[in-house]
Amino acid sequence: MFALGDEDLAGSVLDCPGGASSFTASARRRGTRAVAVDPVYLTSADQLAERVSAELERGHAWATANAERYLWDFFGGLPGHQRSRAASAALFAGDRKANPGRYLPAALPHLPFAERSFDLVLSSHLLLTYADRLDAGFHLAAVREMARVSRTGVRLYPLVDQAGRPHPELVERLIGSLTADGLRVRVRDVDYEFQRGARTMLEVLR
Ligand SMILES: C[S@@+](CC[C@H](N)C(=O)[O-])C[C@H]1O[C@@H](n2cnc3c(N)ncnc32)[C@H](O)[C@@H]1O
Repeated sequence: MFALGDEDLAGSVLDCPGGASSFTASARRRGTRAVAVDPVYLTSADQLAERVSAELERGHAWATANAERYLWDFFGGLPGHQRSRAASAALFAGDRKANPGRYLPAALPHLPFAERSFDLVLSSHLLLTYADRLDAGFHLAAVREMARVSRTGVRLYPLVDQAGRPHPELVERLIGSLTADGLRVRVRDVDYEFQRGARTMLEVLR
């Protein structure tokens, strides 16, 4: 979803928000200095594991009822998707227990890091995804904050909301404001589409 190449994963990467995904654990295995932040990491590992397990069930029921909203090839259908999400959550839970220092509680638009702390910042399924609840001001403040703590830039995915609706005005507004800040911003195609229409990311370069 982020069109990542070897060079992108050679340094340090901040996953913001990391949620219960396995990105940080997987990236660490290949040598990337990955760190995840999410306000949900205030919740203890055991409590979060319970919550994630319930969420997996809910998510599966929702995906089953709304299967037409997704392209299933990547996961090999609904059962494959369920297996993949469970494996990802298990990898996350094990890694968080073994390496709690990789999972820091923090909430956008304020990150507890100095300027240029990470080579790259990745952000998936928060901004745009919840465009119905998070206003344009929050989006801009959040991307500026992620850009501040990055050395090379930020990648944001997807550019559609939970219902698969694009938000071109919001994206244009972000591009305009970030460009005025002196950042280079572009919409890039990615070689991944699970949610129908989610074929692009926003790349912000410092
Ligand atoms: C749908 S999950 C996405 C997690 C992960 N990126 C993924 O794709 O699996 C959204 C996450 O955003 C987190 N979140 C909510 N408000 C936030 C904020 N203000 N700053 C950072 N993360 C936030 C939630 O706790 C939740 O884990």
